[in-house]
Amino acid sequence: MEGAGRRRQNAIYRAGVLGRRPAVPTDFAELERRARKASSAAGWAYVAGGAGEGRTMRANRAAFDRWAIVPRMLRDVAERDLTSTLLGTDLSAPLLLAPVGAGQLIAADADLHTARAAAAAGVPYIFTNQGGTAMEETAAAMGAAPRWVQLYWSTDEALVDSLIQRAEAAGAGALVVTLDTTVLGWRPQDLNLGSLPFAKGLGIAQYTSDPRFQELVNTHKSDKSDKSGKQEITLQAIRSLISITRNHPGRFWANLRSPKPRASVETFLGIYSNPRLSWDHIATLRERTRLPIVLKGILHPDDARRAFDEGIDAIVVSNHGGRQVDNAIASLDALVRIREAVGPVPKIVMDSGIRTGADVFVALALGADAVLLGRPYMYGLAIAGQRGIEEVIANVIAELDLTMALTGIKNLAEITRDVLVPRGTLSS
Ligand code: FNR
Repeated sequence: MEGAGRRRQNAIYRAGVLGRRPAVPTDFAELERRARKASSAAGWAYVAGGAGEGRTMRANRAAFDRWAIVPRMLRDVAERDLTSTLLGTDLSAPLLLAPVGAGQLIAADADLHTARAAAAAGVPYIFTNQGGTAMEETAAAMGAAPRWVQLYWSTDEALVDSLIQRAEAAGAGALVVTLDTTVLGWRPQDLNLGSLPFAKGLGIAQYTSDPRFQELVNTHKSDKSDKSGKQEITLQAIRSLISITRNHPGRFWANLRSPKPRASVETFLGIYSNPRLSWDHIATLRERTRLPIVLKGILHPDDARRAFDEGIDAIVVSNHGGRQVDNAIASLDALVRIREAVGPVPKIVMDSGIRTGADVFVALALGADAVLLGRPYMYGLAIAGQRGIEEVIANVIAELDLTMALTGIKNLAEITRDVLVPRGTLSS
């Protein structure tokens, strides 16, 4: 039987005979370079940028370099099985697409392209709470393909309930509550451009499509920072107004005459994150949804233990791709500590720094049950739209499959800590 790796290699090499090249580069460095060229300055700052001096992003990658895979020979690996089940969701490979907000900065209808690509590739997509398309529409683009929904805990509890109910109705297989963004990190790339996508009406479609949010907008009192009531009119102010107007549901000209689009942005900025978030909020979740609950953004072993003690179904060990705290622990290092603390059973997903199939392999060997792919698929989107995302996913899975074959491994359960040694040591 031909595995995912050889299938992908054959497709590329056969097309190569006809003079065709893959739509996106198959190595990360070139993928990133081409994506940068294809993106606007503000789009690139937002997607590729990180917190502070970028140390957490670099640490996320450096952590992978501290481990080495030790291949084994002569183990008959003709049949390989990459499948597993996570919280009742069948995975064709141990990979899900991470929630990535404000994708419109990279491509129009980013969420729909991502949803269709995920469905075509057979990989679940975690819808972002900061989407550019309402979750119902994104779900419709996927048919019956698996999706989870991510939530940012708003200061308005009725909005939290409304978003959860919509996630259930949209067929979510799990609710992923992101904990690490109760305030936005210090992001110099965005700050230097004065660029916040939400302020331009990007990435707030889950809100503007929500009945509870609309109630909040209707009762919103405009908070004019300029006491004279006059806003300075600059070219950028006009551009922002057009962006806000265009991204609001409904017709452009009607929106332009209405105060609603601007009130929506102001309302959003006032309520979208909740620095008061605590374990008390999390304790209410079980009563509020029948979905499996996943907490994303856990980095400390004590937080992981507490999550499982509270009956949480899974955690995502993540530092948000190094976008929140500069000089934070690498996500892979946190994974090692957390797996050690909670033992082998609790479900752990890991993200932040996954770039290749070999990275997936190392994360699994260090105790992850699955990983999330983040920036790489956005880079595929930037270069070649839906097709670009599909190829990025296929490439990562192909390399994982080939790495398994070449290290003498037939299924995911065999990818254990024993297949690795710390790089630079001579221990067996
Ligand atoms: C994110 N991430 C994120 N996470 C989340 O829970 N909700 C969100 O809306 C977003 N938005 C978002 C936007 C952009 C542009 C990026 C790059 C990331 C974090 C994301 O889910 C994931 O944790 C990181 O992308 C993992 O890091 P790498 O591997 O992409 O570097």
